[in-house]
Amino acid sequence: MAMSFFKVLSLVSIVVMAMLHSSFDVTSLSVNEEADVLLNWKATLQNETQATQPPLPSWTLPNYATNSSNNQNTSSIPCSWFGISCNQARSVIGLNLTNSGLKGTLHGFSFSSLPNLAILDLSMNGLFGTVPIEISNLSKLTLLDLSFNKLLGEIPSQIGLLTNLEDLHLAENQLNGSIPPGTGQLKSLTFLSLYANDLHGRIPASLGNLSKLVCLLLNNNFLSCSIPASLCNLNNLVYLYPHHNQLYGSVPREIGNLSNLVELNMKNNSPTGHIPSSIGSLEKLTWLHIYDNLLFGSNPPEIGNLKSLFSLSFQFNNLSGSIPTSLGVLSNLTVLHLNGNLLSGTIPKELGNLKSLISLQLDANQLNGTVPISLGNLSNLEVLFLCDN
Ligand SMILES: *[C@@H]1O[C@H](CO)[C@@H](O)[C@H](O)[C@H]1NC(C)=O
Ligand SMILES: *[C@@H]1O[C@H](CO)[C@@H](O)[C@H](O)[C@H]1NC(C)=O
Ligand SMILES: *[C@@H]1O[C@H](CO)[C@@H](O)[C@H](O)[C@H]1NC(C)=O
Ligand SMILES: *[C@@H]1O[C@H](CO)[C@@H](O)[C@H](O)[C@H]1NC(C)=O
Ligand SMILES: *[C@@H]1O[C@H](CO)[C@@H](O)[C@H](O)[C@H]1NC(C)=O
Ligand SMILES: *[C@@H]1O[C@H](CO)[C@@H](O)[C@H](O)[C@H]1NC(C)=O
Ligand SMILES: *[C@@H]1O[C@H](CO)[C@@H](O)[C@H](O)[C@H]1NC(C)=O
Ligand SMILES: *[C@@H]1O[C@H](CO)[C@@H](O)[C@H](O)[C@H]1NC(C)=O
Ligand SMILES: *[C@@H]1O[C@H](CO)[C@@H](O)[C@H](O)[C@H]1NC(C)=O
Ligand SMILES: *[C@@H]1O[C@H](CO)[C@@H](O)[C@H](O)[C@H]1NC(C)=O
Ligand SMILES: *[C@@H]1O[C@H](CO)[C@@H](O)[C@H](O)[C@H]1NC(C)=O
Ligand SMILES: *[C@@H]1O[C@H](CO)[C@@H](O)[C@H](O)[C@H]1NC(C)=O
Repeated sequence: MAMSFFKVLSLVSIVVMAMLHSSFDVTSLSVNEEADVLLNWKATLQNETQATQPPLPSWTLPNYATNSSNNQNTSSIPCSWFGISCNQARSVIGLNLTNSGLKGTLHGFSFSSLPNLAILDLSMNGLFGTVPIEISNLSKLTLLDLSFNKLLGEIPSQIGLLTNLEDLHLAENQLNGSIPPGTGQLKSLTFLSLYANDLHGRIPASLGNLSKLVCLLLNNNFLSCSIPASLCNLNNLVYLYPHHNQLYGSVPREIGNLSNLVELNMKNNSPTGHIPSSIGSLEKLTWLHIYDNLLFGSNPPEIGNLKSLFSLSFQFNNLSGSIPTSLGVLSNLTVLHLNGNLLSGTIPKELGNLKSLISLQLDANQLNGTVPISLGNLSNLEVLFLCDN
């Protein structure tokens, strides 16, 4: 008896709630809620330097209190505010405040209250403090750009929960700790930029699971490990920048699997070992810089397969043997720097075919013989260093 009474009661309350629901403008309610979230964060930001005005002047509510008869159009709030974009239901989907002079932290930002946010670009501001773990509440996020700020502390491991992310930019901050292995769960990622931070530790092997990755920028950190062979599974990778770290070990033989690679920059690490001949498979490579490393052995003749090469630098290694004559077919080469090695033998006359060459540095080796007359055909040459041989 009592049971059925409560059943009826709960049925009635469902009907009443449904009626209430339809009599309210639900959309504008949620828009105001999102506006409140944004205003609450704005209130935590500092005024711009040399200005007594708070930032984001367009972020205001109409002043009902002083003019109650004022029937202002509030449906454009917060969608008309600077940097905000909304969907058709007028819920915030984009927040782009790049280079807006913002100073403050992300801790006053109630991420879970902006459930539809897909684009968050706060790059080039003065944001400081840590990256809150609650950023992982933005489950629809496809782009997160916090680069060029003053953020510190570790990258939260919860970043791996943002599985819709396609672009993750955290470069040029003071982030420390190591790269969370969970980053390898971001299956949609095409662009991962972590350069110029304070990152230590290893490059997680799990990054080899990011099969859509096009751009991997890890340079100017303190990463210390060998390059995980798993990275060579990334067959969409076009840019690989691991330079200016403390990497060691050899260049993986599997590097030849990165068939779309256009730029490989590995200077200022300390891999030791040979340049794998598989590098000759990278036919789209335009930029190959492996310098200030501790490579030894000879230049593989397969370098001559890299027909798209525009810039080739192996300077300051311990490469020995002769300069491969196959280099003479790289007709687009503008920079050829093999200086500071242990190269011996003569300068191949075939280098005279490199009509695009602007800078040729072969100094500080153990080359001998005469300078080939063919080099006189290099009419674009501006820099020629042959001394100290
Ligand atoms: C920031 O701006 C507000 C509004 O103009 C002003 O009341 C406040 O004193 C300013 N704060 C600082 C620290 O300048
Ligand atoms: C109230 O708002 C209306 C419409 O924007 C304006 O014409 C009127 O001057 C305002 N009244 C006061 C007292 O500010
Ligand atoms: C309020 O603004 C929105 C968007 O700017 C517009 O589509 C709508 O027609 C306006 N409503 C009124 C009553 O002015
Ligand atoms: C944010 O706005 C700037 C300037 O308008 C633009 O260059 C940039 O591409 C925008 N960011 C995103 C993620 O759309
Ligand atoms: C927000 O993220 C935190 C940390 O990951 C989590 O504990 C919390 O449950 C999330 N809140 C919501 C509403 O998803
Ligand atoms: C990272 O930086 C924070 C803030 O500067 C510091 O407290 C913490 O000890 C650092 N952690 C590591 C592992 O260096
Ligand atoms: C991701 O990569 C790691 C290390 O390379 C591997 O052990 C793991 O099985 C991979 N996970 C998936 C889901 O591919
Ligand atoms: C990757 O490289 C290794 C070593 O060079 C080679 O044996 C293997 O077949 C390559 N795998 C793919 C999928 O190309
Ligand atoms: C050489 O450069 C030209 C002009 O940039 C380009 O059209 C051509 O495809 C390049 N050759 C090769 C083999 O990449
Ligand atoms: C590089 O060559 C120098 C001079 O011959 C030698 O002292 C050094 O041990 C070599 N380093 C490596 C890593 O082979
Ligand atoms: C040049 O060096 C090679 C080996 O390094 C040697 O065999 C050859 O005799 C040298 N030639 C001259 C002209 O000194
Ligand atoms: C220089 O180039 C011209 C025209 O391409 C060619 O005929 C000549 O043989 C070349 N000279 C040398 C020394 O290679």
